[in-house]
Amino acid sequence: MTFHLLISETKPSDQPRIEHLLDKAFGLDRRTKSSYRLREGNHTVPGLSLVVRDEDVGIAGSVSFWPLAIGEAGTPALLLGPLAVHPARQRLGIGLELMREGLARARAMGHRLVILVGDEPYYGKLGFRRLPHNLCTMPGPTNPERLLYLELEPGALAGVHGLVLPPHRHHGKDSAPLAVPEAAEAEKQHAEA
Ligand SMILES: CC(C)(COP(=O)(O)OP(=O)(O)OC[C@H]1O[C@@H](n2cnc3c(N)ncnc32)[C@H](O)[C@@H]1OP(=O)(O)O)[C@@H](O)C(=O)NCCC(=O)NCCS
Repeated sequence: MTFHLLISETKPSDQPRIEHLLDKAFGLDRRTKSSYRLREGNHTVPGLSLVVRDEDVGIAGSVSFWPLAIGEAGTPALLLGPLAVHPARQRLGIGLELMREGLARARAMGHRLVILVGDEPYYGKLGFRRLPHNLCTMPGPTNPERLLYLELEPGALAGVHGLVLPPHRHHGKDSAPLAVPEAAEAEKQHAEA
C-alpha cells in the first residue's frame, strides 16, 4: 500500500487523544516505567513532538523527544519516546516515518545523540544499537538489552557514561543519590515483599 503520510507537530488539543493512544499501546501502568522518570518535570523538545492525524481513528501515530543530561559532564542527549501507532494503522510504515522525521529534525537542530528503551529488532531498522553494558545508568530498573542509542553525529557516544537524568535533575557529582540502581530497587522490592 502506497500513500502519503502527513506528519505534523503536536498541538495542545491533540494531547488527550495521544494519552488515550499511549494507554492503549502500553497499558495503564506505563508511567511506572523508568523512561517516565526521565519525563517527570521535563518538557518535550519544541518542534520534536509529532503526530499523524487520521479522520477515522483520530491520532494514527505519535512520537516525542525529551532532553537529557548524561553523567557528571551532563552530556546532552535526547530520549526518543513514547512512540505508538494506533492498532488499526500498524504496519503501514507510520512508526518508522514518524521516527525518521523526528530524527531528521533533531539532527538539523544540532542534537548529536539519541537513546531509548525499546525492541532492538524494530529500532535497529533505523540504526539504533544496544548501549554497551554499564555505560549508562537509567534512573530505575531497565533491561540493558532494551537500552539503545543512535549517534546523529558520528562519534557522539565517545566518552559518554554515567547516570541518565532529565536536565533539571542533573547536578554533576551530586546526581548520584538520585539514581535508583537496579540492584538497589530489587533489594527494596524484596524487602517490601
Ligand atoms: C511498535 C510500533 C510503534 C510499530 O509501528 P508501526 O507503524 O506498526 O511500524 P512500521 O509500519 O513503521 O514498521 C513495521 C515493521 O516493523 C516490524 N515491527 C513492529 N514492531 C516490532 C517489534 N516490536 N519488534 C520487531 N519488529 C517490529 C514489523 O514486523 C514490520 O516489519 P516488516 O516491514 O519487515 O514487515 C507499533 O506497533 C506500536 O505502537 N506498538 C505498541 C506500542 C509499542 O510497543 N511501542 C514501542 C515499541 S518498544
